[in-house]
Amino acid sequence: MRSESTYALSFLVLLLTSIFIFNFVYPFDRQFLSRFAFLSSSYFTPNKSPLIEACDYSRGRWVWDEIYSHLLYDENCPFLDPGFRCRQNGRKNESFRKWRWQPDDCDIPRFNASYLLERNRNGRIVFAGDSVGRNQWESFLCMLTQGVSNVSKIHEVNGNPISKHKGYLAMRFQEYNMTVEYYRTPFLCVIGRPPPNSSKRVRRTIRLDELHWYSKKWARADILIFNSGHWWNPDKTIKSRRYFQEGGRVNMTMNVEEAFRRSLQTWKSWALHNLNPASFVFFRSFSPVHFRNGTWNDGGWCDKQTEPDNDPTEFETEPYYNIFISGVVKQMQYESRKAHFLNITYLSELRIDGHPSKFREPGTPPGAPQDCSHWCLPGVPDTWNELLYAQLLSEKFGIKKILPERG
Ligand SMILES: *[C@@H]1O[C@H](CO)[C@@H](O)[C@H](O)[C@H]1NC(C)=O
Ligand SMILES: *[C@@H]1O[C@H](CO)[C@@H](O)[C@H](O)[C@H]1NC(C)=O
Ligand SMILES: *[C@@H]1O[C@H](CO)[C@@H](O)[C@H](O)[C@H]1NC(C)=O
Ligand SMILES: *[C@@H]1O[C@H](CO)[C@@H](O)[C@H](O)[C@H]1NC(C)=O
Ligand SMILES: *[C@@H]1O[C@H](CO)[C@@H](O)[C@H](O)[C@H]1NC(C)=O
Ligand SMILES: *[C@@H]1O[C@H](CO)[C@@H](O)[C@H](O)[C@H]1NC(C)=O
Ligand SMILES: *[C@@H]1O[C@H](CO)[C@@H](O)[C@H](O)[C@H]1NC(C)=O
Ligand SMILES: *[C@@H]1O[C@H](CO)[C@@H](O)[C@H](O)[C@H]1NC(C)=O
Repeated sequence: MRSESTYALSFLVLLLTSIFIFNFVYPFDRQFLSRFAFLSSSYFTPNKSPLIEACDYSRGRWVWDEIYSHLLYDENCPFLDPGFRCRQNGRKNESFRKWRWQPDDCDIPRFNASYLLERNRNGRIVFAGDSVGRNQWESFLCMLTQGVSNVSKIHEVNGNPISKHKGYLAMRFQEYNMTVEYYRTPFLCVIGRPPPNSSKRVRRTIRLDELHWYSKKWARADILIFNSGHWWNPDKTIKSRRYFQEGGRVNMTMNVEEAFRRSLQTWKSWALHNLNPASFVFFRSFSPVHFRNGTWNDGGWCDKQTEPDNDPTEFETEPYYNIFISGVVKQMQYESRKAHFLNITYLSELRIDGHPSKFREPGTPPGAPQDCSHWCLPGVPDTWNELLYAQLLSEKFGIKKILPERG
């Protein structure tokens, strides 16, 4: 007994000494230390990367919670597009706001705007992607205003109005010297004029090997949230005469799936070469659409259901977008980046009741297609942001600003 514990003790001393020496040679690095997390809690999960969260928030159920909606902002938040203000657009039944996501194995920590603002003082948060990314960005802004004493002090840095959504917008939270920015880049890559020599059929090209020039503005952000996918379909590419280009050459036969995969590889090498390794990088999973009995431009609707769908057996299989996205995120993690796959597809798939449907922005003609792609706000994207927050907390976001800079 005795000799056994002496043996164990000397082993421990040896181990700690080697950690110390190693750490001395390679200057202090929190991520490095976290690899030794087995010393404290996760001893029994040796295969688990420390960069993977303890809890899987993606699986769970929606539970009725009358109080939940009172904890959130409301439609008066000044950062909401008219198209997302479903109640103001005539939606009477607001029960869609009373559902709270309950993961199977844990609780979501309560979103604390002041805490997040404080931790991100002097920082930048960047959202880049398509209009569903903008949907999430607006939700995030409204959630953050709960930690701000005077909302009029939040302003767009170039004075642009929020409802004209061309290009990019950067909201400055003056009290905290921080910005929360949105960049409209549906393909993440450059989309531009075809090279001089290409076929007459080609109207525009999507340059799979070149990230959008906005990416120059993303490089120094502290937290980045990307999304992509909705525009990667034949209608918005080849059928609209937007073809794929690589190295100055248009490829008339490449399919959308392959093109998407390649664009993500470009994204990944950009991220590895340009982002600060201390930045938190999220890539959100595909946000499902819910057109029933037709497509978006063919009479499809989603206004008949006012409750979450509780029959997940009807679901489509995992979108290929998610397979590719989670793949590149893993590759980033192998490179020791703080990369996360924000997997919200399943929880959102259950929420056919969460879309604007026919309650679109004022001025929409009566026969216009329903919106079963975006989400009413407050609404489902608030949950995405709660999960974002939970993951930031689990990685002790902002601690770097308190600890001395690592060498
Ligand atoms: C996303 O989450 C759902 C629900 O937990 C899961 O079924 C799916 O496999 C996840 N997707 C990926 C790519 O990990
Ligand atoms: C939110 O965080 C602040 C610190 O930034 C703390 O003072 C406050 O108690 C927290 N609120 C809740 C409800 O946890
Ligand atoms: C605001 O933040 C920037 C970094 O984003 C920093 O350079 C600047 O000094 C900060 N300003 C103040 C007044 O703290
Ligand atoms: C809020 O900020 C605005 C713009 O800086 C200012 O005009 C207004 O007086 C402030 N309101 C309060 C209550 O401090
Ligand atoms: C057009 O493409 C052909 C074949 O790739 C090449 O030989 C030719 O030089 C190109 N012409 C121009 C104007 O780029
Ligand atoms: C176009 O891309 C496909 C891959 O999707 C490839 O097999 C093919 O060789 C490419 N064509 C040209 C002309 O490069
Ligand atoms: C579904 O669409 C068909 C035509 O495509 C139409 O005849 C039918 O009434 C629609 N059903 C509902 C419930 O809207
Ligand atoms: C709203 O929809 C829910 C679910 O379908 C229903 O139970 C409730 O009675 C509706 N509320 C109103 C005010 O119509």
